[in-house]
Amino acid sequence: MRRIVLASTNRGKIEEIKAILAPMGWEITSLNAYPGFPEIEEHGATFEENAVHKARFTASFTGEIAMADDSGLEVDYLSGAPGVFSARFAGEPANDTANNNKLLNLLEGVPYEKRTARFRCVIAVATPEGKILTTEGKCEGYILTEPRGTGGFGYDPLFYYPECQKTFAEVAPGDKNRVSHRARALAKIKEALVNFV
Ligand code: IMP
Repeated sequence: MRRIVLASTNRGKIEEIKAILAPMGWEITSLNAYPGFPEIEEHGATFEENAVHKARFTASFTGEIAMADDSGLEVDYLSGAPGVFSARFAGEPANDTANNNKLLNLLEGVPYEKRTARFRCVIAVATPEGKILTTEGKCEGYILTEPRGTGGFGYDPLFYYPECQKTFAEVAPGDKNRVSHRARALAKIKEALVNFV
């Protein structure tokens, strides 16, 4: 049986990915099975650099095929910020409320049609030999002037997604897992993995 290690300890994310990849019939583990695993620094300038670095490092540390993701929000009016700094936009330690408030302040007075934004996710798979595969998923939307909805995490309450006519925090979790940037990137990686190894 083929095996893949997910470069994450986040149980919610691990379960979401496992559910999507389950039909492949691979054994799926995570960093929770490697207690001594070191913290991986994210210094890349792009989601792709960060995802590839995490996948490579995990594959060489574990000797298994590894999958990593990196994601965030890009706001056009802010030239793509917060981007790779999404988690710590308002500084350390990461704080969703502070991040959302900072975003609202930076967009104060900006009209709706100029508040375009997207969530982007890059997934990378690496083999211990150094072979790399990446895919990307994105969701285009708008940043509202105040939060709406109680679900989700991060920037979800501010991100209006026209396809669902709701913010990501108003979409039911099952629906978000079908339409999200992560779901789109994962669906592509699932296809691509068939011919990868
Ligand atoms: P990571 O790739 O899981 O480390 O996510 C980086 C950061 O991007 C998170 O801490 C959030 O601030 C933001 N982010 C990524 N995906 C989402 C999402 O689906 N909803 C809201 N915020 C997100």
